[in-house]
Amino acid sequence: MFEEGQLYSPVTQHDDGTVEVHLSDNHPGRNDAAYVGRRGEIAGAAMAWTRGEPIPRIDYTEAEHDIWRTVSAELAPKHEKYAHSEYLTAKRELALPTDHVPQLDEVTERLAPLTGWSYVAAPGLVPLREFYADLGARTFNSTQYLRHGSEPLYTPEPDIIHEVIGHGNQLASPRFARITEAAGQASLRVETDEAMKFVADVFWFSMEFGVMREHGEVKAYGAGILSSYGEMDEFAHMELRALDLADMGTLNYDITQYQPVLFCAESLDELEDVVGGFFETVDDDSAAKLRAEAVTRGLV
Ligand code: TRP
Ligand code: FE
Repeated sequence: MFEEGQLYSPVTQHDDGTVEVHLSDNHPGRNDAAYVGRRGEIAGAAMAWTRGEPIPRIDYTEAEHDIWRTVSAELAPKHEKYAHSEYLTAKRELALPTDHVPQLDEVTERLAPLTGWSYVAAPGLVPLREFYADLGARTFNSTQYLRHGSEPLYTPEPDIIHEVIGHGNQLASPRFARITEAAGQASLRVETDEAMKFVADVFWFSMEFGVMREHGEVKAYGAGILSSYGEMDEFAHMELRALDLADMGTLNYDITQYQPVLFCAESLDELEDVVGGFFETVDDDSAAKLRAEAVTRGLV
């Protein structure tokens, strides 16, 4: 998930139909011409696709399968130790392949029978409101490219590993699936850009970077932590704050590094009550009230 315009590399289409992806100065693949070209090819497939047609199938290279295998193998023991049991159970149910990059169709085939979610192809950034409206219909916009092979442990830009291993496994839990759908439905209720941003920021500190106490230990359930085996090693040492909507919706964050402040739910019930309940009821007024509360408390 994303801050609009920053999280995903911009994609442009030239007059001859070719697609170019513009990687930022700190992207590990920026000087690798083959990688940049491949990114254009994969983004081009999603751009040429229209809904209703079969999802573009990407013919992944052995090197790309290798990145998937490396990350899957590194994440497996870290998930066992540091992921919340709700995610682990869902991951076991979904049983994604670990030896090859799955096609998005393959993800939908496994996920839809569990929780009704479908995966669709996105070239990169999807406008915030479109992305959320789709969540409200249990549809997940997913990129299809892989992170650069030189830095598999963490990518500054979400890739198919994040979308599928992070979010896909999470969405195989009926409880996480419902909270995510509710966030999507919230986007249809809020009209102001401020309220929409508030919803997206609560989502950031919950479904993307949320942690939860379980049997006295702090476990990860956020997709952004669960797809990075670098961040999986670090999150338990970060500053933990209690679930607090006014704080979550207004705290600034840097999208390009490990998150130094995390919000910790005491239980899945508490997450559903506080964050799920927020998504289910938020409107422009209540979001504005929470923002005003943050100001009064000196949070912003
Ligand atoms: N860091 C994540 C990973 O390595 C991917 C990612 C980058 C991400 N930016 C993000 C995830 C923002 C969630 C939100 O898998
Ligand atoms: Fe995400």
